[in-house]
Parts: sequence; structure tokens; C-alpha cells
Amino acid sequence: MHTLGTSHNSAPDTLSPSTDGFLSPLLTDLLTWQTAILILAITAALLFLILLLARLRRGAATWTSSEETRWAAWESAIRQALWLHGRVEEDMLLDIPLKERSEAMRRFVEERPNDDLVFRLDPPRIELAAPKRMKTFLRHWKAAWETVESEATFQTIAAILASQLCDMLGFTMLDARTYRHLHGYVVKAPALRLRVPPRFPIIFLRKREFSPDDINDVRNLMNILNMTSYFALLIDLNDRPSQLDKRKNLKYLVRGAIHDLIVLDGNDLRQLIIARDHERRLIKIILSQVDLTVVSPYVTSGPVPENMFFGRDNELKTITRKVKDCSFALIGGRKIGKTSILAKVYRLLSETPTYFPMYLDCQAVTDYDTFFEAVKSMWEVELPSQSPDGFRRLITRQASEWTGGTIIVLLDEVDALLSYDLLAQEKLFRVFRALSQEQYCRFVFCGERMLHARLHAPDSPLFNFCDSIHLSYLEEQAARRIILEPMQAMGISLADQDTLVHEIMDLSSCHPNIVQYICQRLIIQINRRGSRRITMADLEAVRTSSQFSEYFTEVTWGNASALEKLISLLLIDQGPVTLSDIEALLTQVGVHALQMDIEEAIRDLMLYSIIRKDGQHYVFANRGFPQIIKASQDMPSLLDSLVRQIAV
Ligand SMILES: Nc1ncnc2c1ncn2[C@@H]1O[C@H](COP(=O)(O)OP(=O)(O)O)[C@@H](O)[C@H]1O
Ligand SMILES: [Mg+2]
Repeated sequence: MHTLGTSHNSAPDTLSPSTDGFLSPLLTDLLTWQTAILILAITAALLFLILLLARLRRGAATWTSSEETRWAAWESAIRQALWLHGRVEEDMLLDIPLKERSEAMRRFVEERPNDDLVFRLDPPRIELAAPKRMKTFLRHWKAAWETVESEATFQTIAAILASQLCDMLGFTMLDARTYRHLHGYVVKAPALRLRVPPRFPIIFLRKREFSPDDINDVRNLMNILNMTSYFALLIDLNDRPSQLDKRKNLKYLVRGAIHDLIVLDGNDLRQLIIARDHERRLIKIILSQVDLTVVSPYVTSGPVPENMFFGRDNELKTITRKVKDCSFALIGGRKIGKTSILAKVYRLLSETPTYFPMYLDCQAVTDYDTFFEAVKSMWEVELPSQSPDGFRRLITRQASEWTGGTIIVLLDEVDALLSYDLLAQEKLFRVFRALSQEQYCRFVFCGERMLHARLHAPDSPLFNFCDSIHLSYLEEQAARRIILEPMQAMGISLADQDTLVHEIMDLSSCHPNIVQYICQRLIIQINRRGSRRITMADLEAVRTSSQFSEYFTEVTWGNASALEKLISLLLIDQGPVTLSDIEALLTQVGVHALQMDIEEAIRDLMLYSIIRKDGQHYVFANRGFPQIIKASQDMPSLLDSLVRQIAV
């Protein structure tokens, strides 16, 4: 009992400091009820809050989507007014509530920073920064549509529209032809950063709907206009061609054509006119209709056109500044850019009245006969005789006629001619040297190992005759421009741009042709998946492809001898080496070459920019070479076969 009693008394103590045994049970009950009600109230409030939030969110979503549809309708109303009148005013926007019109116009302009539009207040309106052009266009565009039945009137209007386009895009009109219901204007385009031919036609189709026969006619007209390329801009008079049946819609019909036909309808032309940068907008329209690979400006063979020539400022400066007083020899490996520089020097000198540049590609020249034939046909001159002396007389005669300027003879790929000349006591190059020394003319030669060797041979007329310029890789800045500028022009972005550019430069060592090749492969890669963004994974796919390693090996190693190849293989994983290290490495694989031959091989490896001299040591100049060769070649068997080739 004592225990119970103790227990009974202890409970109230814990609830209340009161020692009143009667009040305690009541208080407990009250508290329990209060707690229950409180919990219920909180739960109800929470539920209410959750429901309210959910409703609000649903409401907001409905509001947003209806707002968006409303905006799309308003945007289209503003665009229609702009397309029709060339400007937008409040009373043209009856579908937009009056109090919203001003704000809608402001938003329309703000969302189009690449269009040359201006929003003005008092009264609220949208204007074009250059309204006259649009006004003239709209007037003639409407007239063109209305006169499709009358060839003569249409032709006059088409000519005005064509010259307006040329004026806006910086094109020069060269020729005009009418064929059936087609009116073609051949234009010369400035150097666009796209592979678009420098001359192409703008063709107006005097029709409102089309058939496959029209595409045939376009092809015929292009033949009549002597167009060697397949590119043309076709003008479709429709403002809303999408309303036409697909079989009558020009944009659909050209898809089946093998030609790269770009269709510009009323909508496209207006887009072009209102653009801040007309050329950029044209590129955008072109890219929306053809494959990236069709217009990608990257060039991987032959000299680069002006718009894809990057870097080489020092070389160009040196030659153009000094060529009046001395001759030059440009030497370098395969596809390093010799012809590109020579062609650029030719262009630069042609623009200077005090020079008479004469360019000759000696690629197909193997002896005197082919050389003199090339001189006669390419320069359109009479040679006094088909001999070195005949060439001498030709130049001295020209020099006496062309007073007031210096004749500069630019000879590309002279290696084969030099080899032939060597067999004939170098008579021709002795004449070249004499002509230069007697100041009748100057020479700029381009070549590879033969030219390189003769420049260093004391018994050669080339010894101490020319200033030689060794062409190697581009500077990083120029390589970066090759990668970025054409990509930007095509609207292609690079994920993690800096790393990607850096990786490309590393892989290519800034070899101009390898950079262009990589970029072209990247374009093919993204084009395949319909993307406009290059990622590291794309570069990885190019880097690990067999096409890339084959191309790389061919460009860097294509003209190397077996001994040169062997030496470069032996240097992989070696770090800096001296000449005697190289001799020792060769001996280890059983090759006992003459020191003279080893030295020549090293000189040529430097000419090809595979290795370079660093003090007394040789190191790889081509940073990508060791990895690419290791990853793509069966090293032991390649070594074996090279050793056997040398032994023979
Ligand atoms: N200055 C340059 N800028 C951009 N690319 C170049 C330049 N020079 C050369 N290339 C690239 O190298 C390729 C070969 O150029 P080319 O002048 O024919 O070289 P080479 O005459 O030395 O064989 C070109 O098609 C182009 O891809
Ligand atoms: Mg060349």
C-alpha cells in the first residue's frame, strides 16, 4: 500500500506544482482536448495552403500559356503590318487591344536586335532605320507580282529589284539574260565566308506557281550564262509560298535538284532588307536551305582563296617590302601554304603600279621544253628561242618595254625543273641569277627539298642568290582565326570554346592544312546529326578516326624518305637528342648510314617541320606527330620495313 500511495501522489506532481489532488484529472482532460483541436486546426490550415498553392500554380501556368499564344498572335500582326507597309503604326494593329499596342511594338523591336528597327513614341510606331529601301522594294515587289503576264514590264521591274539586291549586298552585276519565263542576272559577290562561287546568277521566275520543268529551265539558263558552278539564288514572287501545294512550291521543287538552288521568297527578301547585317542574314537563309557541307568554306587542297587566307603577315611583309631589291625562295613541306603565299604575293604586287608580276605554276614542268611551252601559253608571249638564252632575251625585252616598274617572276614548284636543270649544268638557273643580278627582274621561287638542297650547295647558282624563307606552322592567333571565323559565319558554336580551340591547335601544331582538315571533318560530323554545335566528343571522333591519321601521316610524312621516316620514328619517346644520339639510335637498329646522309635527312625533317633544332638538340616541332603515329601505325613492323628499305 505504501508503494501505491506513493505512486498516486507522484503523478500530479509531475503535471503541476500544485499538490491539489482534486483538480489534476480535470486539467489533464482539458489539455488533451486543446491539443487535439490545435492539431486539427493546423492540419486544416496546411491542407488549405497546399490546395491554394496548387491552384495558384495551375492558374499561373494557364496564364503563361495563354499569354504566349496571345503574344505569338500579336507578333504575327506586327510582322504582317511591317511586311505590308514597311513600318508599323497603332492603327495597323486592330487585333491588339489599344492600351497594349505600344508595349507590344516595343517588345517586338527589343526581341530583334539583329534587325535594323527603331521603336518611337508619340505616337508609338516601328520604323526602319533605312525606310527608303523597304519602300522602294515593296512598290516594285507588288508590281512584279502583278505583271507576271507581261514579259517586258516584268523584266524592267526585275532589273530594278536585282540591282537593289546587288546594292544592298555589295554584289556587282555582270550580265543579264532572259530565257523563257526566267530573268537571270549574273553577279560577282564579295568574298563571303562561305563556299559560294565568286560569280553566280540571281534568277527571277516570272510565275506564281511552279513545276519540275522550271528547274530544268533554271539549269538551261545557267548553261546559257556559262555558269561553271551549281549555285544560284532563285526569286519566288510569293509572299506565302507555304499556302501553295507542295508540288507547286519552289522551295520543295528545288530539293530534288542536284544544283544548290537557294530560293528567296517575299518573306526572305524582307528579312534580308530589315537585317542590320545583310550579308550575315543571307548566309543564314542559305544555311537554312542547304547542307553545311555544301557551303563550308574550309579548303583542304590547293591554294586558299582570299577569304580563307590567314596569317603569314611577316612573310608577306618581308617579300613585298624587299622584293624590289632581292629575290626570294619559299621553302616548306607539303601543304604548308607555299602556293597560297605566292598567289597572295601575286595579288598584292598586281595592285601596285610599280611591279609587273608574272606567275607561273611549274607543277607540270619536268624539262626545258615543258617550261618554255608553259611560259609561252601562260604568259601569252613569244619566246625568241626555246632555250635559257631565249628566256633571258624575253625578260630583257620586257624590262626595256616596262619602264617605271620591276618585273617579278613568281615560279611555283620548281623542284622538278631544278633537277632537270642540274643535268644541264644549271643553265636556266644561271640565267635567272644573272637576270636578277643585272636587275632586269626579281624572282620568287617556291619548292621543297630540291630547292632547299640547291640553296645550300656552294656550287649552285642558287647559293647566295635568294633570301630563303622557311615556311612552317602558323602562329596560334592565325590558327585560332581559321577555326573560329568561318564557324561564326556559319552560325556554329563551340562548346567549351577555349579548350576545343586549344586541342585543335595541339593536334595540328597549327599546320594550316591540318587545321582546315580538322574543321572540315568537324562540320561533316555535326552536319550528320543535324546540329550546329561542336563538342569535345566530336573532336575526339575526328582525332581517333582512321581517315584523320591517314591524312595527317600523308601530309606530314608523304614526301619523306625511308631514312627520314626511320629517324623520326626512332625519336619518338626520346626527348631532346643530339646528332650523335641519332647516329647511335640508327646503329642500334642496324642502320649504318653516312653522316652526310643523316645530316641531309635531319635537314629535310626540319624543312617539313617534323623536328626542329633547339640549341645542340633536336626535338619534335610537330607536337601531334608522336601520338598519332604511335596510335595509328604498327610500329615494330614499320620500323622493320624501313630498315629493310634502307639496307637495299
Ligand atoms: N595562309 C593560309 N591560311 C589558311 N589555310 C592555309 C593557308 N595556307 C595554306 N593553307 C591550307 O593548306 C592547304 C595547302 O596550301 P598550299 O598553298 O597549296 O600549300 P603548298 O603549296 O605548300 O602545298 C590549303 O588548301 C589550305 O587548306
Ligand atoms: Mg603548292
